[in-house]
Amino acid sequence: MTYAVRYYTKTGNTKKLAEAIAKELGVEALPISEPVNEPVDYLFLGNSYYAFNIDPEVKSFVTSLDKEKVGKIVNFGSAALLNSTYKKVKEAADKAGIAMDEKEFHCKGVISFTPFFVGKCKRSN
Ligand SMILES: Cc1cc2nc3c(=O)[nH]c(=O)nc-3n(C[C@H](O)[C@H](O)[C@H](O)COP(=O)(O)O)c2cc1C
Repeated sequence: MTYAVRYYTKTGNTKKLAEAIAKELGVEALPISEPVNEPVDYLFLGNSYYAFNIDPEVKSFVTSLDKEKVGKIVNFGSAALLNSTYKKVKEAADKAGIAMDEKEFHCKGVISFTPFFVGKCKRSN
């Protein structure tokens, strides 16, 4: 299996999750400004809610993915109040013709002004 990890963050929480996931997978966690050039079976995509939506940059990143290079997207991220961003990311993934894995990872994440992630994490399934 081949993996890539990309993330979008405004306040750093998603980067911390991405780095933990990437470490387990033995790959580097990169921001979504880094395109996925090599074919991968699974793209782990970290993202969060901002004003009840995912950032437009995340939508553009997902819709511009090459379906020949990305097998499936695994969604992960955090939000202060809302549940996961899965449906929002899936809307973009559908446009790109890329499947979403039904498994995902979602945390409660607070807006933090400290260098420490303050959250409560649980796997969806
Ligand atoms: C500008 C801004 C808007 C946010 N809007 C929402 C929101 O609408 N719903 C929600 O549940 N959380 C919201 N949050 C909380 C973030 O989703 C949460 O803190 C997340 O962990 C931030 O991830 P990041 O540190 O990777 O940017 C918002 C945070 C920021 C900074």
